[in-house]
Amino acid sequence: MKIDIIISADDIKREKIENKTVVVIDMLRATSVIVTAINNGCKGVIPVVTVNEASAIARNSKEEVMLGGERDALKIEGFHYSNSPIEYTRETIEGKSLVMTTTNGTKAIKGCICARNILIGAMINAKACAKKIVELNKDVVIVNAGTNGEFSIDDFLCSGYIIDCILNLEKAELSDIATTSHYVYKNNQDIYSFITYANHYKTITKLGLTADLEYCCRKDIIDIVPEYKDGIIL
Ligand code: MLT
Repeated sequence: MKIDIIISADDIKREKIENKTVVVIDMLRATSVIVTAINNGCKGVIPVVTVNEASAIARNSKEEVMLGGERDALKIEGFHYSNSPIEYTRETIEGKSLVMTTTNGTKAIKGCICARNILIGAMINAKACAKKIVELNKDVVIVNAGTNGEFSIDDFLCSGYIIDCILNLEKAELSDIATTSHYVYKNNQDIYSFITYANHYKTITKLGLTADLEYCCRKDIIDIVPEYKDGIIL
């Protein structure tokens, strides 16, 4: 099995992901939200790129649909929830469908539609992702959502941890960037300390959302791996 990394949603290339297993990571915070929502009984998450698209789906849906996500890391006007994973409890999301739009995370997911399998990963379900990747037994590309087309430390570190979990299960051939992310993780296993260097950490901290950061940095608290297929994450 080969493992490679793409560093931002803007760097996704069809030829790199076609017929591969892809894991999309936006640990701060979109994919942490999705993993949490599905784990708490959400019926399905529909990721979309724009706010208008999200509102139109909710308006035209026969059943009640929840709207979640962010712009500039803040709740979108008229939406039910923000992009804070701790809002998506069993009490708020169980049995409901969620339409979600975020700046980078949902864009990265939608950009991967030509992959064979599109898994949703974060620190909170990293070990479960590794297990699923090994089961699927295909070459893997870990797609980091990044931040506005730029590399981000948080997603890179999370990739390194997922690679470490895979290597604990099976041998793999790492690209140079995959080797580097694994090296960075191995030397910085205290996730919370290292992501303090990330720009997005600073944005979230300024907004007073420290509880989100603490939650998103926890390792393996969830044992499921949501998968995006035919327009919906289940
Ligand atoms: C995104 O998709 O850009 C992020 O999840 C932003 C955020 O932390 O709200």
